[in-house]
Amino acid sequence: MRQHQIAVIGGDGIGPEVVAAALPVLRAVGEKFGFQLDTTDFPWGCAYYLEHGQMMPVDGLKQLEGFGAIFLGAIGYPSLVPDHISLHGLLLEIRRGFAQFVNMRPHRLLPGVQSPLRSADFDILCIRENSEGEYAGAGGRVHTGTLDEVAIETAIFTQRGCERVLRFAFEQARLRSGRLAVATKSNAQRHSMVFWDEVAALVAADYPDIETTKYHVDALCARLITHPGSVDVIVASNLFGDILTDIGAAIQGGLGFAASGNIDPTRAHPSMFEPVHGSAPDIAGTGQANPSAAIWAGAMMLDHLGERDAAEAVLAALGVVTGAGRAGTPDMGGSSTTEEMAAAVTTVVRGGQE
Ligand code: NAI
Ligand code: MG
Repeated sequence: MRQHQIAVIGGDGIGPEVVAAALPVLRAVGEKFGFQLDTTDFPWGCAYYLEHGQMMPVDGLKQLEGFGAIFLGAIGYPSLVPDHISLHGLLLEIRRGFAQFVNMRPHRLLPGVQSPLRSADFDILCIRENSEGEYAGAGGRVHTGTLDEVAIETAIFTQRGCERVLRFAFEQARLRSGRLAVATKSNAQRHSMVFWDEVAALVAADYPDIETTKYHVDALCARLITHPGSVDVIVASNLFGDILTDIGAAIQGGLGFAASGNIDPTRAHPSMFEPVHGSAPDIAGTGQANPSAAIWAGAMMLDHLGERDAAEAVLAALGVVTGAGRAGTPDMGGSSTTEEMAAAVTTVVRGGQE
């Protein structure tokens, strides 16, 4: 029996709810495919902050270091802790500390799920730079609180940072359709984005089999809505990827379905898998949260751990449940609870009827 050591950070709001619903699905598929998830819970987040004055212990990264992967719910609860503290104190700390420089987000419409688009035949994988770029945090404010106040936010694009995420994206394109869309804005951003394009061209030379198309990010945003089926793998900087993947989430039926992996492809550190959505304070504690995004993130985690067949089985089972249209949470127009919907997926995984 294969064993996978998983660090579980449920976090805040609906985070622990969707994680608790998703884990039994992953355990059930493990029974079928011959592995066990050995999970350890870390009670970090906003409640922890209120008690200890920090989002996680000082040696938090050290505690996580030995795990095969991290499964995270959501972090943040603005009525308890300001978002810039909760986000930087845990999520960004882990992404940066563990060099998870790739943020991978699949956008696909599961069977039976309603897209706001009339024609919604697409299968997109967005590779977002996750460690530098526009979110590097470089900058500052001077003359604060006066009419002369100045704010500067400097984007950081490094040769190493661009090359490693571009190379990862080319590899993904090779595993899929052989097509890669490179998001840029080199007409307007003549330093960073011209550099990004140059590094992309450099890497492209190593992948003559990949058909590379450069899109200005605004045009690519429009394309995701008008012709989403024309795009396969996308690679984008941190900010551009953030925006593109919110469009991706919207066209795949909403945040209840959008999953993401924060990946260190070198495998020197554990990677972290999480739904794209946040803690949803508006529905926390009501059992209305859609567990699909967390289940999908769990499937990505299994794939990363080498359990590809199990990952596919989880997604197939999820599709059976959404396609049958009986067990659905309120965001899908249904009346199932988080737990009921996830339990329906577990039943299908075990070979039963939804
Ligand atoms: P949110 O994603 O928590 O919620 C946005 C809207 O989508 C809400 O109306 C919510 O009810 C709905 N929603 C989200 N997930 C859902 C699900 N699984 N099923 C059904 N409906 C769902 O974003 P919001 O409200 O802007 O942020 C709330 C908190 O979460 C903040 O503290 C924010 O910083 C944090 N956050 C954390 C993230 C993370 O941990 N990666 C990502 C985004 C936000
Ligand atoms: Mg976003």
